[in-house]
Amino acid sequence: MLQLPEYSRVREFRVFLDACGYGTERLTQHLGRARPPTADEARQMFDDSREITVLNVLVRLFLLGAPVDKASVDAFLPDSVVRFCDDAGLLRTGDGIVNSQVVIIPVEDLLFVSDAFRVLGTDAARDFVLPASTHSANFLRLLTLRDAVGDTLDLGCGCGLHALFAARHSTRVIATDISPQAIAYTRFNAMLNDFGNVESLEGNLFEPVAGQRFDLIVSNPPFVIGPSESFVYRDNPLALDEFCKALVAEAPHYMREGAHLQMLCEWVEVEGETWKERVTGWVRGCDAWILHAAPLSPASYAEQRTADLSGESVNAGQTDDWIAYFDRHRVRAIHPGMLALRRRDGVNWLHVHNLPADVTRAAGTAVADGIAAVDFLEACDDEALLAATLGLADNLAAEQVRSGEDTVGVRLCLRDGLSTEADIDGAVAAFINLFDGERTVGGCVAEFAKVADADVDQLTADLLAIVRVFVSRGFLKPLDLA
Ligand SMILES: C[S@@+](CC[C@H](N)C(=O)[O-])C[C@H]1O[C@@H](n2cnc3c(N)ncnc32)[C@H](O)[C@@H]1O
Repeated sequence: MLQLPEYSRVREFRVFLDACGYGTERLTQHLGRARPPTADEARQMFDDSREITVLNVLVRLFLLGAPVDKASVDAFLPDSVVRFCDDAGLLRTGDGIVNSQVVIIPVEDLLFVSDAFRVLGTDAARDFVLPASTHSANFLRLLTLRDAVGDTLDLGCGCGLHALFAARHSTRVIATDISPQAIAYTRFNAMLNDFGNVESLEGNLFEPVAGQRFDLIVSNPPFVIGPSESFVYRDNPLALDEFCKALVAEAPHYMREGAHLQMLCEWVEVEGETWKERVTGWVRGCDAWILHAAPLSPASYAEQRTADLSGESVNAGQTDDWIAYFDRHRVRAIHPGMLALRRRDGVNWLHVHNLPADVTRAAGTAVADGIAAVDFLEACDDEALLAATLGLADNLAAEQVRSGEDTVGVRLCLRDGLSTEADIDGAVAAFINLFDGERTVGGCVAEFAKVADADVDQLTADLLAIVRVFVSRGFLKPLDLA
């Protein structure tokens, strides 16, 4: 169990880790990665850390989770560091062998202590605190809006990944979690990374922050849908997607006007209801910008969720039980995505943005631009849109789409972190090329009609529909938003 030592001792430990090169840059150079290995990568990482150096002792203990003999630990780690690790519960020694109780994972220039994945194979699996290296956590981190804000809430903070990244652009962050161990890790990590503006509170959903309002709420909640209740960190404890629904329904009470909620989410498509109707039905008093990833069939979802996580056995039941659960609830598909809600009085909008590829770099600006684009479109009737001046996005790339020898169209791709794409034909490409930042939309429509020798009035409705889609996807930008 993690203990919280004095602040100064945690900071000394951090200085030591930094001095040894235990961080993203050096570990990536040294081992090709700065995270725990997958099962396939473990052997290589063992080989690459075989020479006994101080950095390799740290790698073996805190990334590989491998036992190291006490003599090597004593020879390479200062006494004060070993004492600190023992006192904090990071290391345990027995029979001349030192075992790490945690992983320490660098993410950019921060370090996060959490449970190691091997806990999933033990009796303590139910209360497992997720390491900072998971795909879902980093997906949300990369999508988070990074404008300076006053108060931020990280609900379901785990080891504090989102809370600490938000602490850089928030006056104050409150990190909450139902798990006392998660709260302990977040407190420890706030000290390890020297953030004095993060407060960690234990409790269910919004209970710890009753009566408070925030400018930004981030949450990577336990969204997994299925019959398993084995893991607090991932299994939605209510029927189907009810936990995410409760979070979405309650959130506006804790948001200031104009505040954002960004959360990962999975929701079901049940017989007789579209997925969009389901998720839209949850949202009250907020605009909703939904980043929608490819849905999964119940069978493939069940297979994924009962499979191993990072090489450790996950005791989440049998695939057949999951499929039967989905059948019982008439589930046709499971939809994953990120919801970005903005509290706003008035008539609210909902926009769905399809995610074509994985997110691998910061895309918070792309999310902000996406929301601003929908605001612009909502404020523009056709007349206003025709009078607006739009330009092509700076980071828009176009490539030819070929079928054999022939060019059959053009693929537009935005290099903005979301990799938004669209395949268009030559005529639409010619229309889009008219947006030179000088002509109004009406001017582009008129020019296109002239070149095509067509009646402008007949073309206008179709071309405006194209403009609206392209603005919403970020290919075309109103110049005052560009
Ligand atoms: C998927 S993990 C995310 C952890 C961390 N935020 C991250 O992204 O790595 C979900 C977290 O929600 C917490 N949690 C589960 N049920 C909760 C509840 N009812 N109220 C608050 N937090 C809860 C879990 O303990 C876990 O830490």
